[in-house]
Amino acid sequence: MKQIKLDLSKAFSKTGGFISPDIFDTYKQPTEQLNTALHKKSGRGSDYTGWVNLPYEISNEFLTEVENTAKTIRAKNIDIYVVIGIGGSYLGAKAVVDALSNNFAHLKGDKPSILFAGQNISEDYLAELRDLLKNKEWATCVISKSGTTTEPALAFRILKQDLEEKYGKAEAQSRICAVTDASKGALKTLANEENYKTFVIPDNVGGRYSVLTPVGLIPIAVAGFNIRALVNGAKEMASATNTSVPFEKNIACQYAAARHALYTEGKKIEILVNYQPKLHYIAEWWKQLYGESEGKDGKGLFPASVDFSSDLHSMGQYIQEGERLLFETVISVEKPDNKVLIPEDTDNLDKLNFLAGKNIDYVNKMAELGTQIAHVDGDVPNIKVEIERLDEYNLGQLIYFFEKACGISGYLINVNPFDQPGVEAYKKNMFALLEKPGFENETKMLKDRI
Ligand code: PA5
Repeated sequence: MKQIKLDLSKAFSKTGGFISPDIFDTYKQPTEQLNTALHKKSGRGSDYTGWVNLPYEISNEFLTEVENTAKTIRAKNIDIYVVIGIGGSYLGAKAVVDALSNNFAHLKGDKPSILFAGQNISEDYLAELRDLLKNKEWATCVISKSGTTTEPALAFRILKQDLEEKYGKAEAQSRICAVTDASKGALKTLANEENYKTFVIPDNVGGRYSVLTPVGLIPIAVAGFNIRALVNGAKEMASATNTSVPFEKNIACQYAAARHALYTEGKKIEILVNYQPKLHYIAEWWKQLYGESEGKDGKGLFPASVDFSSDLHSMGQYIQEGERLLFETVISVEKPDNKVLIPEDTDNLDKLNFLAGKNIDYVNKMAELGTQIAHVDGDVPNIKVEIERLDEYNLGQLIYFFEKACGISGYLINVNPFDQPGVEAYKKNMFALLEKPGFENETKMLKDRI
């Protein structure tokens, strides 16, 4: 099995806006030191660096418990597994499940379908989900580290009642799994009272770094995927980016250095690019990871994403010729799982016979290479992250790679990559507008403003 490759060759140039090789070399010492700070827990937010050694610490017994729980849930012959959570308690599972599933899994009738709730407050979304669940066999997993987040708490309040109405209290209890803090929060209290199967989110792992905890592993295992291979991939990348691996070979240090060097050159936006629709939510997960970790104190690259080649017919124009404040990081999947050959056509009206006998992925790869060259010509530096195929092992590597580089990147701009004080502002206003008890002053102040 291959290791992820990082190709920075299209991000370098002696001219401005790209990385100058001399400057890149100056990152050796700081990135190695910051990697050590993550491991030694001597950097900012070190209480939340439990994810650094997590791949090595996941025990065989724990994985067996997750697998057995998934087996018990699947044995109920459910059509739908509803995973309730938001942010870090949602995106990792969604990203991995989507990346590993058939593009048309829901329509093919693969069981169970993994659906999500509590990741928005849309009344229509919830109403339509409830409607769908009425005639389906289903179970649910509610995930919240704090146990108090409004969106999932609201969704769970409603879906729990639906489940109890459909199956009766006792059977409903056996269909609910809770993933939350070891001791505190409303969800923990409820899970104890109702005797739900409960898994703990370690104290020292924050939401967006929690895919390899029960937060991600339960939904991924219920979906039928191999969580051991996922963890093994992460372990491989943990070794490949360890403090003993010098900058010249350490792709997490190099990626963090490249992003920072480009940021310093005025590239304020990093676009994560994929050429596989299954990777759409990997990009959503990545945006949360980097956006929430770096975007603070008036600093940080803005993480954006596009799905190519679809978005080449929309955002491609801006990327080629708009404001020159972008660089791209392309996730390139070396081998597709399937083969579709382009046939010969007698009339050849579309003039595509020159491609007859080639497979579709060959065209996709040429689109990828052609786009990279065009964008570099348009002053958009390109970084490539190459993975062998879309499987659990490679995704495990990819997840850990991005996490490790994110920790180092946050330290490079001197922010705490493990807190998210900024997300409290909307909550305060929302509670004030909803007239939550305890927010009377804020309610008055906001009402005076609107
Ligand atoms: O990364 C984070 O910490 C956040 O995105 C949280 O995961 C998100 O706000 C959900 O929090 P909780 O799991 O406490 O419900």
